[in-house]
Amino acid sequence: MTETFTIGLVGARGHTGRELLRLIDGHPHLQLVFAASRELAGSPVSDIAPAPAGLLFENGTAANLASRQPDVCILALPNGASTPFIDAFEMVSPQSVLVDLSADHRFGDGWAYGLPELYDEREGLYGAQRVANPGCYATAAQIAVHPSLGMLAGSPSVFGVSGYSGAGTTPSPKNDRERLHENLMPYALTDHIHEREISHHLGQRVCFTPHVHPAFSGILATVHLAFRTPQTTQGLLKTYQEVYEGHDLIKVQSNAPELKDGTDFPGVIIGGFAVSEDGAHGVIVAAEDNLLKGAAVQAIQNINLALKLDLLTGILPGKR
Ligand SMILES: NC(=O)c1ccc[n+]([C@@H]2O[C@H](COP(=O)([O-])OP(=O)(O)OC[C@H]3O[C@@H](n4cnc5c(N)ncnc54)[C@H](OP(=O)(O)O)[C@@H]3O)[C@@H](O)[C@H]2O)c1
Repeated sequence: MTETFTIGLVGARGHTGRELLRLIDGHPHLQLVFAASRELAGSPVSDIAPAPAGLLFENGTAANLASRQPDVCILALPNGASTPFIDAFEMVSPQSVLVDLSADHRFGDGWAYGLPELYDEREGLYGAQRVANPGCYATAAQIAVHPSLGMLAGSPSVFGVSGYSGAGTTPSPKNDRERLHENLMPYALTDHIHEREISHHLGQRVCFTPHVHPAFSGILATVHLAFRTPQTTQGLLKTYQEVYEGHDLIKVQSNAPELKDGTDFPGVIIGGFAVSEDGAHGVIVAAEDNLLKGAAVQAIQNINLALKLDLLTGILPGKR
């Protein structure tokens, strides 16, 4: 396969944007044709990430960027900011594949929800044209809970910790490095949008409490499960090994991963599988890089499927 697809990126200055630039540059079938940033307009894209020689950041209007009619456009923008771009693409270039990293389209409204290891067929990701990329915590938590769904006696509870890059680049207490130094900050203890997203897609209420830790990236999600019938550590581990066999980005191991194991890892590591003596309570730990499987790697997986390429092209070496 030698075909090349053109791709544009809006929100290219951001944390996820930089990871996307790196992945696009290494992808054998994607050719970056624009990278939009208002703040960096006019400067070389290669100043912040690998990129085609001579390509400059641009501050194009939504109509101007859509008129370039790329095969794919990624919207890596804050919630609510992508609407003008989507409207412009619908008018000028409806055939372009759009992948939105925000939470705006994760609850239906005609967009496919792009968590390929769990919902590839349900969501019709192969050849999809509008794909909502899942949230970072939502990805780790769903991968950790999904295989247990048939065993549950009640709502799972997820204690999540994320690096401050999860809060984007707009200054806030959640990415204030001075405040976070030697600190751990809880926030949104009920009704976090990822709690709603996890529960919506699993079809099972899940309670979720996020915290920010002082490192740049990395998510650790500790998941508590209550079982209807007694389970064992070995049985639970075997179930997860069977479910995720053949999924190269999901690593199932018996020991609990630490936060650093997930940092820079392209997928999700699931481990722990501790079950109480009475078999009624289990704990699973998931580690993930919020910027990779939690955002940019998953976006590339979704683009690969939309373009009918191999799921892992440009993500794992040797995949074309
Ligand atoms: N960070 C994560 O771990 C993570 C994980 C999963 C999903 N997400 C989601 O991905 C999206 C991007 O996150 P991020 O962390 O990369 O954010 P970020 O670092 O704050 O970057 C946001 C980008 O959007 C641009 N931007 C902001 N407002 C804009 C507007 N009104 N019009 C055009 N461009 C605008 C900014 O560039 P200029 O100001 O230079 O134009 C910047 O490049 C968010 O929806 C976030 O929730 C993030």
